[in-house]
Amino acid sequence: MLFDRPATTNPIDQMKVVGQHITRIDGPKKVTGTATYAYEWNHANLNVAYGYPVGAGIAKGRISSMDIQAARNAPGVLAVVTAETAGKLSKGKMNAAKLLGGPEISHYHQAIAVVVAETFEQARAAASLIKVDYVRAPGSYDLEAAKDTAKKPEGSEGEDADTSAGNFDKAFAEAAVKFDQTYTTPDQSHAMMEPHSSLAMWDGDEVTVWTSNQMIAWNKSEMAITLGIDPEKVHIMSPFVGGGFGSKLFLRSDAVLAALGAKAAGRPVKLALPRPFVMNNTTHRPATIQRIRIGTTQEGKITAIAHESWNGNLPGGSLETAVAQTRLLYAGENRMTSMRLAALDLPEGNAMRAPGEAPGLMALEIAMDELAEQLNLDPVELRIINDTQVDPEKPERKFSHRQLVECLRRGAETFGWDKRNAETGRVKDGRWMVGMGVAAAFRNNMNMKSGARVRLDSEGVVTVETDMTDIGTGSYTIIAQTAAEMMGVTIDKVAVELGDSRFPASSGSGGQWGGNSSTAGVYAACVALRDAISQKVGFNSADVTFADGQIRSGNRSIALAEAAGKDGVVAEDTIEYGDLAEEMQQSTFGAHFVEVGVDMYTAEIRVRRMLSVCAAGRILNPITARSQVIGAMTMGVGGAFMEELAVDKRRGFFVNHDLAGYEVPVHADIPHQDVIFLDETDPTTSPMKAKGVGELGLCGVAAALSNAVHNATGVRIRDYPVTLDKLL
Ligand code: MOS
Repeated sequence: MLFDRPATTNPIDQMKVVGQHITRIDGPKKVTGTATYAYEWNHANLNVAYGYPVGAGIAKGRISSMDIQAARNAPGVLAVVTAETAGKLSKGKMNAAKLLGGPEISHYHQAIAVVVAETFEQARAAASLIKVDYVRAPGSYDLEAAKDTAKKPEGSEGEDADTSAGNFDKAFAEAAVKFDQTYTTPDQSHAMMEPHSSLAMWDGDEVTVWTSNQMIAWNKSEMAITLGIDPEKVHIMSPFVGGGFGSKLFLRSDAVLAALGAKAAGRPVKLALPRPFVMNNTTHRPATIQRIRIGTTQEGKITAIAHESWNGNLPGGSLETAVAQTRLLYAGENRMTSMRLAALDLPEGNAMRAPGEAPGLMALEIAMDELAEQLNLDPVELRIINDTQVDPEKPERKFSHRQLVECLRRGAETFGWDKRNAETGRVKDGRWMVGMGVAAAFRNNMNMKSGARVRLDSEGVVTVETDMTDIGTGSYTIIAQTAAEMMGVTIDKVAVELGDSRFPASSGSGGQWGGNSSTAGVYAACVALRDAISQKVGFNSADVTFADGQIRSGNRSIALAEAAGKDGVVAEDTIEYGDLAEEMQQSTFGAHFVEVGVDMYTAEIRVRRMLSVCAAGRILNPITARSQVIGAMTMGVGGAFMEELAVDKRRGFFVNHDLAGYEVPVHADIPHQDVIFLDETDPTTSPMKAKGVGELGLCGVAAALSNAVHNATGVRIRDYPVTLDKLL
């Protein structure tokens, strides 16, 4: 099905099941421990062996010698695989560095060997016996120092690195009010609960990998490229994922090492990356330096706005698109954005939840707060008077829906923003200095091609099969809701099977596109199934309805179980998108309101209240959508106050490579949270009329918190995270 014009009325609009508060259909499996995660697959007859990785002990250089003899001879060891013994391995298109390195080393903890043994403990013990000598090469590990060497990337990424409209320099020079500040955001780790894990098993020249991955079709083709085999010989299974946040978009070393280990040992091999490898072997959100200049009239109307961003990456790594929101969020005739990339030899920087907008808004939304203070304007009002309903760089393009102002107004009213004292350091509650902060939320909406297969059986059960993943987001549930609505059955009559590469390729889970895109693919398949059933029972598909477990036409009706017959009916389709999204700017909006307390003696920072108001198209399930937003708000608390990968600038690695040193919020850090979704259906996004919401909730949170700290204390911190030492 091609979706290339605004969606008209369709069965989804009934909203009997879609849009309803339905708890996760996979919830019982999760709370009873019967949802099988990658490392837990273990059929009794599999005879699984265990793999343990060895990571490079230097950041850059080459291996001069590697002694694996002691490891090979260690108890229980079945195989030791290195780049030398693995046979020809290629680098996939989506990784900056090889997933099994050597002799050249591209980054610290790049995998250089895998040891396979009968038990995990034997594999780990043997891995420690491998002796490696290196020749170090000088590397570059300091973004600040490398900033002036940063360049525009080559190819299409470089073409998108700069934008401009009007004449920024002139307008800024002439502006009545000028603002110019620089902010930094640190390297951050996805730090999801479940580390990257895989179980690989060969059957002749075919490999099956049970893994933890967000994008099954990408994973399959990247595995085929890496191993140099036909994609049809690769089978990926990832029905449950214990968190991804972007770290599992791409094939990682766990899957490759498990496959190589399994081949060498002639046994299925299970391998989970030890926690330190999550920080240094996989990807992270790269640090940024961001300069923001804004010129306004005396009344606070933006006349000039510029946002420049710098980040570092390995050769072949990409930009962090931290200026993305600034191109679209506020009006202003004269504008420029620019991104530059410096070569660094740290592990690869790549997508982490809301790549671009998350770190971009961390800077821009402090800048707006500072500007409001400079103008003596309320920060909510400053944002409202600079709203735009068109793409400010290309005014002929309208937003399909844009309710930023409504989000701000509704949030201010609900939160009690009128009680905020604009003068800093004035509000006290016992030993706490109390402050409020606000920030806009913005994240673009992307649509991705997505396919599904649906089957109606003789029990009247509808089974959906798609390679879509559920990374904790609720995919199982919203897909079941979609099929139930389309086929006129209750949700208990729908079975959903996900994360298997033998199923039709879906959008996968990334870039907050999964919810809208994957359900739109299921919609398309259900349209095909409705046609097939109508045809089978001899009804005209143009005037049938599906309701109460029946297919109806005029005054005739047939139960679906009966219509299915003993062989059932199957249909498959894929939704593809035309250029509608190019004509219209599709974005999601929100507003965050927060209150913090800062201990006046110790500078300890505590969040007291949080509210997010979101406008993100039709909300397919208010429970799972709310969970996404409160999870994102929680992640924003980490971004504001805790998260930072500490770079060893001499040796080139992230020092705090575990969950003791890399701090993320826990329950005790999170107070009252509330989420409001504004009523919105966007017929330009898909037949579902939904948009992404999973990343929107993170965008802007950290800035709102930082602004609240400033309101509480009068101290402005421009380098994240905002920690107590910076307040003293
Ligand atoms: Mo997302 S960072 O595309 O999983």
